[in-house]
Amino acid sequence: VTLKIQPDAEGLAQTAADFISAQVREKPDLSILVATGNTPMPAYAELARRVQAGEVDFSRATAVQLDEYLGVTDDDPRSLWDWMRRSFVKPLGITRTVRLKSPAQFEAAVAELSGLDLAILGLGPNGHLGFNEPPSPPDASTRTLELTPASLESNAAYWGELAVPTGAITAGMDLILAARQTLLLVTGAHKRDILHAALDGPETPEVPASFLRRTALTVIADGAAWT
Ligand code: F6R
Repeated sequence: VTLKIQPDAEGLAQTAADFISAQVREKPDLSILVATGNTPMPAYAELARRVQAGEVDFSRATAVQLDEYLGVTDDDPRSLWDWMRRSFVKPLGITRTVRLKSPAQFEAAVAELSGLDLAILGLGPNGHLGFNEPPSPPDASTRTLELTPASLESNAAYWGELAVPTGAITAGMDLILAARQTLLLVTGAHKRDILHAALDGPETPEVPASFLRRTALTVIADGAAWT
């Protein structure tokens, strides 16, 4: 595990953008599993700035959707597909995407890409990765599931008055853990205990993120999450 602690959100955005840019320079046609959520947004904005400035080029990369709610349409403000397109795909000039519609379609599409080169992940307050809710063993496959109360609560922060859909689909633990590089971004004091559980506690399905230690993992956290 490579751990990079940053003093603040700005440092985290720069460091994450450096890491992701280095990956795309090394392999311009890389496939990237893309988390939404709040944590990676400053890093995506910094990447967009660098693309605008001609410092890095994502035009040959493929963006792969990590998770989605069930039953939301494309024009629903809660669509995670739309969030990924707005925050990552369009601003980075990416034209190739894999959408998560059904487990069979998704697994075939990822196999066609020869797997995932980079998984950009946030850390759920309950240790989830994507919507791999606890308990999720390392071989949990791409599937639909019901969100746990903890995730419904944390996701409520995204949508204001709108209810959080209770059903979801997620890329499986199996595909995430097979990514050639994994990048976990973590900010805030409320993530401190779960981050320590993921990195220092036992590997357990109760903390799905604990299995990331089996991968080529880079963790970038702010000082509040890592003290
Ligand atoms: C979002 C996702 C989730 C979030 C996690 C952390 O696509 O897959 O697993 O990464 O819930 O969310 P934030 O970053 O909002 O704290």
